[in-house]
Parts: sequence; structure tokens; C-alpha cells
Amino acid sequence: MCGIVGYIGSKDAAELLLNGLQRLEYRGYDSAGIAVLNGGLSVLKQKGSVSELEKALKNSGQSEQSIHEATAGIGHTRWATHGDPSDRNAHPHLSADGGIALIHNGIIENYSAIKKELISKGYHFSSDTDSEALVHLIDSIWSDKPEIGLEAAVRAALYHVEGAYGLCIISQQEPDKIVVARKGSPLVIGIGEGEYFIASDAAPIVEHTKKVIYLSDGEMAVVTRDGYVIKTIENITQEKHISELDFDLAKIEKGGFEHFMLKEIYEQPTVLQDVMRGRVRLDEGQVRLGGIEDYLDRLKLSSRVIICACGTSWHAGLIGEYLIEEFARIPVEVDYASEFRYRNPVITKDDVVIVISQSGETADTLAALRLAREKGALVMGICNVVGSTIARETLCGIYTHAGPEIGVASTKAFTAQVTVLYLLALTLSKGRTMSREEIKLYLKELNGVPEKVERILKQDDMILEIAEDYKDARNFLYLGRGYNFPVALEGALKLKEISYIHAEGYPAAEMKHGPIALIDEDMPVIFIATRDNSYAKVLSNIEEVRSRKGKVIAIANEGDEEIGRLADHVIYIPAASAPVTPLLSVIPLQLLAYHIATFRGCNVDRPRNLAKSVTVE
Ligand code: G6P
Repeated sequence: MCGIVGYIGSKDAAELLLNGLQRLEYRGYDSAGIAVLNGGLSVLKQKGSVSELEKALKNSGQSEQSIHEATAGIGHTRWATHGDPSDRNAHPHLSADGGIALIHNGIIENYSAIKKELISKGYHFSSDTDSEALVHLIDSIWSDKPEIGLEAAVRAALYHVEGAYGLCIISQQEPDKIVVARKGSPLVIGIGEGEYFIASDAAPIVEHTKKVIYLSDGEMAVVTRDGYVIKTIENITQEKHISELDFDLAKIEKGGFEHFMLKEIYEQPTVLQDVMRGRVRLDEGQVRLGGIEDYLDRLKLSSRVIICACGTSWHAGLIGEYLIEEFARIPVEVDYASEFRYRNPVITKDDVVIVISQSGETADTLAALRLAREKGALVMGICNVVGSTIARETLCGIYTHAGPEIGVASTKAFTAQVTVLYLLALTLSKGRTMSREEIKLYLKELNGVPEKVERILKQDDMILEIAEDYKDARNFLYLGRGYNFPVALEGALKLKEISYIHAEGYPAAEMKHGPIALIDEDMPVIFIATRDNSYAKVLSNIEEVRSRKGKVIAIANEGDEEIGRLADHVIYIPAASAPVTPLLSVIPLQLLAYHIATFRGCNVDRPRNLAKSVTVE
């Protein structure tokens, strides 16, 4: 949510900031802006995309020249929380005399009170944002005591602030520094040669340097051309570990695909191999998950597993429930992180709480994690982004190794999460509920999945044709049972996220308790009807839809001729046992959603109103 970027060094800051904002645009794209220190302080900000901002800079004539002379500055791409997407609400926000510029990711919860007080002191507000209150507060504190300097003024202002923030602040009075602070919204400092980068995630940094420092909550940093000093907000100096980024530029570029989402769908066979790499010993029937090894005994003894997540990660969690209960026979509950934390849940020291998050930054998931930790549960993470807050705050965990996911609609991260959960469930079953031979068979089957996904991807042209037939539909129903029920939810979510068609996922048998009332000739129904123990029942559901003139698109196993007679369209996937089926049945649904959205002219990688990483509650 909201992308932040900062640069201080000797190069053209404006160009670096704009390039960085392009890489961060998946975090928010309502408006964009930069502020640079070029003797004075120049700001350019407006509603719309980063490329529109770039055009505006080119059209700004003489001032463009001076903006390009700057070698320090900050940039922001916004996902609106307070105030509509507009030029005036775009960041950076400025102090009244234009001498201080601030960018902010997060929500200042007590901004109304701060604003009221500042207005009574004569401050005027030119935006509807919560962030603007903070820049005036800093200005007010600094104006009262000019001798304290920018850093101390920011620190003092933060004492008054409730809420979440990732902040970068510059001032023309102290033009050789960027002051940054973090509480609840991630910030990374990139360390170059005589230059430093600041960003809300590593995407804009990786092409310049691989050395990074992740700021922790409650920390501030002053970054200059000569280095950085990191302290807590209480002014205590911190020694920070320098981490090495483990991905390169190619991973965050489109690589010839029209959209990141399509590239990420096609990456799945490789990603699934990466998830297994070094962890699976097929011949021995062994799984080794280094990140949880020290806690394995405790994990196996847990009386209950609670999985908390949001969005697509929550769908992966539902599949995790089925897998862990089936393989390891440990009871599992799955909660929306946002509900879990507000319903006073029963959590004991014997529980294991697994938080699943692609970004590792989702505010609700992070809050659920902290609550579970407070109550003494063993908290484990399944994250994609290495070094993310959730990854760092969990006691143990498993990385999904899916590589950077840029498309806002999650695809490869989902299949990677499900694969990790499959490996986890097998690990928990070892020595308890499954023999090594059984585990071997399940691993063998998992090992065959990447090749089966390749086969499904080869049907892309046929899926595109189906998408064309249904691109104007106004509603869709997705139905599945057992392991395919969460897949139905995920298929419906993909479609609504990127094509803006209303879609609902339901357990197929529940159709009779409501959705059947909606079925007529205008209602396409997607059935995931693979050959498992509920196959015959799902066929009956298909008949029920057909007899009400609904259109049926079925995802079925290769060789299933019967379904060919019942459905209007069939997308065949290779046969597989039920626990691995979600890894296959979800692929055609990702492609279908993608093609329908592109036929409708939607911005697939940046769907309206959504953000990749939701760092506000
Ligand atoms: C947002 C994204 C989704 C994602 C969800 C949870 O809504 O658009 O794609 O599934 O957040 O994110 P997380 O990073 O915690 O998996």
C-alpha cells in the first residue's frame, strides 16, 4: 500500500525516483509525486500514474532542467486512504513555506486532533489527507525551536502520533539528509557506493545495490551521502544487520509477457520446483524444512493449528486445513486475520498459529501474529518476501521462494503457499500418522506437478476462446467440493479482482441453499469436477444447473468423456489425487480470469482500488 522511494547520492535523483516509483506502482497507483533538493525544494505531483508524472516533468520546460540537477529527493505512489485520488491529495505534502516535504505510507489515526490544534495555531491545510497534518506538526515544532534541527523535530512530532507510518522527510534547510521513520509500514535502506536508497520494499533498490537494511518498527534513520545513523524513536542508537538481497532485476521485469500476471502464471512450473528444491528427498521419502526444524517436536505435539491470513493467502490456508487434518490428523482452524484479532479468540500455549502472507506486511495478519505471540502460542510464518516484517517477527517459518510477485492478483504465490503447506503437512505426519513409504508416494506425486502444470498452460489458446465467449457476463458462480472448494473461492476472487465481474465461490453442495436461485441462461457456472470422492455428487449439481439453463464450464480430468456431454465447455487437467489437485485446478481459473479481464480492457496488473500489499487495517 503506497510506494515510498528516496535517494541521496550524486546522480540525477528525479530520474532514479521516477524509475523507482515505476517499480513500486503495484503498491498503489492513484497518484504519484516527487520532491527533490536542488538548492531549493521542487515538487511535482499529480493524480494518475507514474508515466503521466514523467510526461508532466518533460512538459515542465525550464523547471525540468533544475529538477534534474538535484541529487537527493523522495517519491511516492499513493493508494488513497484519507481523501480522494487527486492532485492536491498526492504526496509529497509540504510545510506552509514549502521548505519541508514529507511522504507517508500508513494512517495517522489521531490526525483530526492534530489538525484541529494546528488550525487553531493558524496552519492552513491544502489536502484532505492525514499525512499533511504531520508535515505541519513537524514544521510547528521546528519553528518553535529552530535550534533542534529536522531530526529532532521529526522525533518530537512522532511522540504525538498514533497510527502507522513509513515516512521520508526532507528539508531545504538541511538539504544533505533524508530523515526516515517506521512504525507499522515497511522501510528498507539500500547501501550503495556513496549513495543510499530508501524504499517501502526492495523492488526499486535491487538494480542499484543488493545490500540492504530493514528498519524495524519504532526506528528512525538519518541518511546522508556519507552514511546513515539508525536510532529508536526514543533516540537510542541501533546496530543493524546488513542483509543481501537474493533476487535480481530480471525477476521484477516482464520478460516479454504482456503483463506481470501472465508472466507469473507461466512461472509456476519453475516456482513449484523452487519450493521443493533442497527440501525434498524423493528416494528417502524425506522433507527437510530448515526454518522449522528446531521447533518440529513442539509443532507435532500441538493440540491445534490456527491459520490466519487474508485474501488469496487465506484461500491457501483453507487448503492447508484440509492437508494438515488429512495427513497429520491435527485439528486446524482457519481465520481471516482481521476477524481473529477482534473476536477475543481462545489461544493457548499448546496452539500453533500459522500466519500466511505473500508480502509479509499485511497489517491484519501482522496484528494477528502479535496477538497470538502475546498469548503464548508458537507462531510460525509462511511468507514469500524474505526479510519482511512477518518473516522477522515469527518464531519460525518457511519461505515460499516464489520470487517477487508484482501482479496485484496473486497467482504463483498461491501455488507456492499450497506447496509449502503440503510439505508441512507431510512433515507433521512423519512418525505419527504416515509411514515413510506413504510419504514417499505423496512426494512423488508432488514432484510430478510442475510438468502437469506445463501441460495445462499449453491449453491457454483454448481458454482464451472460452474467455471471449464470456467476457460480457455480469455474474459468475464458481463451485467445487473438498480440496476444490477453496479453489472455487480463489477462482472467483481472481475474476472479480481483475475483471470487475461479480463472482462468487461456493461449496458445490451448498448451491441448493441459495445460489441456485440466481441461475438462468445468463449465469455461467464454473464447476471444478475432478474425479474425487464427491465427483458423482458434483455431476448431479451440474445437471441441476443445466436444467435451469445455466451455462456450464467444467474443469475435469483428462479422459472424462461423461462431463464432455454435460458441460458447455470443458478444460481438462491431468489426473491427480485430491491433495495435489488444487495446484492444477487453479491454473485454468487464473488464465480464464486473466483473459476475460484483458478482453474487457482492464488493467490486469493494477486493478482499480486494490493494492498488492495492504499495510493499513
Ligand atoms: C491484497 C492483495 C492480495 C493478497 C492479500 C493478502 O488484497 O491484493 O493479492 O492475497 O492482500 O496479502 P498477503 O501479502 O498477506 O498474502
